[in-house]
Amino acid sequence: MTKIKATNITWHEGHVGREEREKLLNQRGALIWMTGLSGSGKSTIAYTLEHALVQRKHLAYVLDGDNIRHGLNKNLGFSAEDRTENIRRIGEVGKLFVDAGIITITAFISPYRADRAVARQTVGAGNFFEVFCNTPIEVCEQRDPKGLYKKARAGEIKGFTGVDDPYEAPENPELTLDASKVSPQEAAVMLCEFLEGAGRIPALGR
Ligand code: ADX
Repeated sequence: MTKIKATNITWHEGHVGREEREKLLNQRGALIWMTGLSGSGKSTIAYTLEHALVQRKHLAYVLDGDNIRHGLNKNLGFSAEDRTENIRRIGEVGKLFVDAGIITITAFISPYRADRAVARQTVGAGNFFEVFCNTPIEVCEQRDPKGLYKKARAGEIKGFTGVDDPYEAPENPELTLDASKVSPQEAAVMLCEFLEGAGRIPALGR
């Protein structure tokens, strides 16, 4: 549980609401939560989807694990506690982005079911869409874009997800993708269709 240290604080309501922002943007805020092993294609799919949405004149933004760990979360490592805090903060940031009306795509391993459940609750179940990048570990390891599996197998990185640290697969994801079967472009098309179906963006030509 996060220790609450802030006292004597007051909540302020703004004059502009989420609906007004969404009207301005011709879309509804949403959080596409990509989860899966390192190398499973999360970031590539996230950035391809972001590009596809912007080309369709929608405002989208990616929050990516590796990138966020260079800034906001650079004080966190890969212990279970730090991963939980990493995901807690992203749930909170995601909530703000969704309130801003933005179609937000997060790409974090987020290995623990309980942490993802907290994020879903924080953002609000109706705004949170879990996408499981279920690419087989053999494929992730073969791709090894950052050479990290090799290091983990050699014992140079301890507690690497999928090697000597757990990954808890989603039980009821809104969507499952396998990057060894679909290209990032195909995945982005599927996700755009999903967002249309979920009433977040209008269908093309409307
Ligand atoms: S999470 O588990 O807390 O959700 P996050 O997605 O932010 O992880 O960061 C994962 C990225 O950090 C990986 O893609 C990889 O590049 C790098 N990384 C470094 N050490 C580890 C590790 N021990 N386990 C997993 N990923 C690691």
